[in-house]
Amino acid sequence: MAEEQRVLLKYADQIDPKIAEDYIKVGGYKGLEKARSMDRKALIEEVKKSGLRGRGGAGFNAGMKWSFVPILDEDRYVVCNFDEGEPGTYKDRIICEKNAQALLEGMAICGAAIASNHGYIYCRGEYPFVVETLKEGIQSAKASGALGDFNIEVRMGAGAYVCGEETALIESIEGHRGEPRFKPPFPGVAGLWAHPTVVNNVETFACLPYILTNGAEWFAGIGAAKYPGTKVLTLTGDVVNATYFEVPTDYNLRDVIYKLGGGVKGGKKLKAVQVGGTSGAFIPEQNLDTPIDFDSMSAIGASLGSGAVFVMDETRDIVDIVTRISKFFEHESCGKCNPCREGTWRCREIMEKINAGKAGQKDIDNLMILSRVMKNAALCGLGQAAPIPIDSTLQHFAYEYSCKLN
Ligand SMILES: Cc1cc2nc3c(=O)[nH]c(=O)nc-3n(C[C@H](O)[C@H](O)[C@H](O)COP(=O)(O)O)c2cc1C
Ligand code: SF4
Repeated sequence: MAEEQRVLLKYADQIDPKIAEDYIKVGGYKGLEKARSMDRKALIEEVKKSGLRGRGGAGFNAGMKWSFVPILDEDRYVVCNFDEGEPGTYKDRIICEKNAQALLEGMAICGAAIASNHGYIYCRGEYPFVVETLKEGIQSAKASGALGDFNIEVRMGAGAYVCGEETALIESIEGHRGEPRFKPPFPGVAGLWAHPTVVNNVETFACLPYILTNGAEWFAGIGAAKYPGTKVLTLTGDVVNATYFEVPTDYNLRDVIYKLGGGVKGGKKLKAVQVGGTSGAFIPEQNLDTPIDFDSMSAIGASLGSGAVFVMDETRDIVDIVTRISKFFEHESCGKCNPCREGTWRCREIMEKINAGKAGQKDIDNLMILSRVMKNAALCGLGQAAPIPIDSTLQHFAYEYSCKLN
C-alpha cells in the first residue's frame, strides 16, 4: 500500500476554503441538509454507526460523546478544538487552509444533533492567517444560507499548550486563566458557562459531512475496523518528504516513512520515530510495521495522538532530545497540581544531569518513580503524559542512557 486516500483533502488547492460556493460545487453542505432532515437521535446513531472516533488524541467515539448531552431547557454549545499546540503537528491547520468549509459544516451537523445553534472555534494563537480564512469562510457560509441559523465565532488562544485540554480551553474561552478543571462533570454535561458542550477536534468535525453524504457504512469500511476512516498525518524530522498525508487508518508506519515519506534523509538508518507529538512514545525500528490506528498504536505502548510523526536518524542523541522535551513540559505545566508542577521540573533536572554525564543509576531509579507518580496522580493529560518519552526511551534505548551514566 503506497497511496494516500484523500477524503478531507480531496479538493485541496482546487477550492477556496473561504468561499462556500466553491465547496458547494463539489458536493458541500449536502451532509448538513441530510442531518437536518433526520431525527436528532437517528443522526447521533448514524454517527455512532460510522465508528468515528476523536482525532484530537483520546480517540473517544464521537456519536457516543454527543449522546451524553442532556437536552433540557438551556443553551448548548459546539466547540471546535483548534488549539493544535503539539510540536510537529499542523494537520488541523492544513484542513482549515484546504477545506475549512467541511469543518464549519461538521460543526453545524453536531449542532443539529444536540439542538444547538452556537459554535466556537478555539484557534491556536500562532495561526493568525488561518483565523482570517476561518472568519471569511464563516461569513461566506452565512451569506450563502448554507449554515442556516447556526452561528460560529472564532476565539484565539495565547500560546499555552495546556489550553488544548478541553476544560482549560473552555476556561480560556470564558476569559479565565487556562487551567484544566476537575472532571467530572464532563463538558457534555457542564462545559462552557456550565452549559452542556461538545468539544471535538477540527479533523473529527471535518469527517462528518462525508459520513452524512456517503453513509455510515462507507466510512466504517475505510481503514481499521475499530478506528475507521482516514487520518491526516504530518511527517517531520530526518525524512525526505517532510509534509502532510491523508491515509486510511490501517496504513502502517513503515509505509508512511519509506513509501510516502521517501525514507530517511541522506540514506541514513532510522533510529526512532515519535508518534503523536511531544508526549508520544519513542518507537524503535522493529515496531514500524504497526498500523497507525489508535488501538494498534496503544498495543505497542504508543499513541496516535495528534498524528504527528517525527523521524530520527541513527545520528540523533536520544537522551539529548528527551532532555529538550522535558524542558518543554516544565515550561508548559500550568502549575495547578502538585505532581505535574513539581514533577516536570524534577524530570527536567534529572534529564539534564544524565545528559551532562553527571548522573548515576540512582537518578534513573528516581526518574522511574517520578514517572509513575505523575502518570497516576497528575490532574490532566499534560502531567500524565509528560513522562511517556522518558519511559519509552528507557525501555527501548536504555543503552543510550547507560552510555551517559558515570
Ligand atoms: C495537554 C493537552 C493538550 C491537548 N491539545 C489538544 C489539541 O491541541 N487539539 C485537540 O483536538 N485536542 C487536544 N487535547 C485533547 C482534548 O482534551 C480533547 O480530548 C479533544 O479536543 C476532544 O476532541 P476529539 O474527541 O474530537 O478528539 C489535548 C489534551 C491535553 C491533555
Ligand atoms: S497536570 Fe500539569 S498542566 Fe495539568 S493541571 Fe496539573 S499542573 Fe496543570
